[in-house]
Amino acid sequence: MGYVGGQSALDVVLAGLKRLEYRGYDSAGVAVLADGGLAAAKKAGKLANLEKELADRPLPAGTTGIGHTRWATHGGPTDENAHPHLDNAGRVSVVHNGIIENFAALRAELADRGHELHSETDTEAVAHLLAEAYSSCGELPEAMRQVCRRLEGAFTLVAVHADAPDLVVGARRNSPLVVGIGEDEAFLASDVAAFIAHTREAVELGQDQVVELRRDGVTVTDFEGAPAPVRAYHVDWDASAAEKDGYDYFMLKEIAEQPKAVADTLLGRIDGSGVLSLDEVRISEEVLREVDKVVIVACGTAYHAGMIAKYAIEHWTRIPCETELASEFRYRDPILDRRTLVIAISQSGETMDTLMALRHAREQGAKVLAICNTNGSTIPRESDAVLYTHAGPEVAVASTKAFLTQLVACYLVALYLAQVRGNKWGDEIRDVVRELAAIGDQVRQVLGTMEPVRELARGLADKNTVLFLGRHVGYPVALEGALKLKELAYMHAEGFAAGELKHGPIALIEDDVPVVVVVPSPRGRSVLHDKIVSNIQEIRARGARTIVIAEEGDEAVVPYADHLVRIPRTPVLLQPMVSAVPLQVFACELATARGNEVDQPRNLAKSVTVE
Ligand code: F6R
Repeated sequence: MGYVGGQSALDVVLAGLKRLEYRGYDSAGVAVLADGGLAAAKKAGKLANLEKELADRPLPAGTTGIGHTRWATHGGPTDENAHPHLDNAGRVSVVHNGIIENFAALRAELADRGHELHSETDTEAVAHLLAEAYSSCGELPEAMRQVCRRLEGAFTLVAVHADAPDLVVGARRNSPLVVGIGEDEAFLASDVAAFIAHTREAVELGQDQVVELRRDGVTVTDFEGAPAPVRAYHVDWDASAAEKDGYDYFMLKEIAEQPKAVADTLLGRIDGSGVLSLDEVRISEEVLREVDKVVIVACGTAYHAGMIAKYAIEHWTRIPCETELASEFRYRDPILDRRTLVIAISQSGETMDTLMALRHAREQGAKVLAICNTNGSTIPRESDAVLYTHAGPEVAVASTKAFLTQLVACYLVALYLAQVRGNKWGDEIRDVVRELAAIGDQVRQVLGTMEPVRELARGLADKNTVLFLGRHVGYPVALEGALKLKELAYMHAEGFAAGELKHGPIALIEDDVPVVVVVPSPRGRSVLHDKIVSNIQEIRARGARTIVIAEEGDEAVVPYADHLVRIPRTPVLLQPMVSAVPLQVFACELATARGNEVDQPRNLAKSVTVE
């Protein structure tokens, strides 16, 4: 974060960092320009440690400053490795997101020239290079451009120099950076949430751009110094959207917001007669009719949404669909051409693995449609089209409402493709469209019945392992349930396709191991239902404690369920939107019972902007 204006830079930057802490919380630091010099403080651990340090050793007051919360890449989370980094004379200070790939060569070169580097980071080299460039050109923006031309990898840099008061300079390659324009003040941050309390007027920075931030405005150039066009936009959510609203954790608030989030994703996209209009999908109907393969790329929870979407897309459109982890995709030379539609799913719109996958896809001539929650972020900007999920800001590191809305958005795309291509599923599609509109209420209904799930979770706090089973669309839900538990409760948790159990994992079943089973509807594809009921019996016979998530009215599971969690009846393909909810609540409660930090689980960050 960076600030220049009339307020206390320290107050503005610290408040902004609080909003950005979800991006990384290994350490935090600030630097302000004051009394013709530069004052800095940094501390390992959460922002609270830095605040304590500042209370013990206050910095002089200044109105220009920068700050950072870190997710460690090079060098562990120590005070020394925390940002900002300074040059040896203590005149220049820089914070950085991303990875500078040629940092070893740069550090060696600096050491040869007599610089002393104290941390293990790639960033410290930049502070020294900036100081050198500044002393030869006498101008911070030009020094930044010169340094950026030498850097390889991904970086967002924000810097101040003691000799350049009232100026903050930023640079961007790959990692996000947004400018906020206030009255007689300006802001720089990785996310608008950092300055939304001050202004909603924002400017997007493009690839390879340098921005000069002054009280009276901003100037943007490319790395060569040529002026770059500035694209301004208005942020349409307000500061309260990023508050906890009385909930103990953002995650609880975001779980509770799901009915509304789902409704907002659907809003204005289906008319009264069930016809879909996705005007924002700027890929022509003609091109969509020609598509002969769909490839979904995403990471983590978004990948699980993509796995579920594959079932819907293939069923409704009859177009072959693959879902692949973005981090694997481009390295295996995938077969793509202009008739491939790539769907990139990302809540943040900044995940580097997904960004690199979509760039690779576009280079091969494929069309890319982003499903994203963050307006103006990099992934939608670099895609041919975008469908925003409109879930509102998701602050908790563990994704919940983003997941449900990604599913809704994927289904809208599937149904739209079927509509455009004239696929003949008349009645089924009409029914699904109707049922989709009812999902928000069903999620609300599930949320109203979660106390037994919370109680169950509390009772399992001392377990070491929880397994999750599912079939068909319930299989990715099982994976998602396990992921939530791993990241929040730090427990060994694994999801399996129930049919795979007998091919190995059943050996894990021992006395009293909790196994969560997501049971498909007994209606529709009842063969799946019958098979999973057999699987439940198999594990129970071997001592498992079964936690069964099943539709209302499904009596066949009752004799084999040690704990039964009821969910409303939905069409088969829509079930994940309701069956995922108890798993979110379960993980959140288990984490709390184990004394873990729900919103900021260890080692994680919300936006993973490194590969
Ligand atoms: C899990 C979680 C992560 C993200 C993943 C992708 O709860 O939040 O697995 O889903 O890092 O992030 P986005 O969707 O921002 O690309």
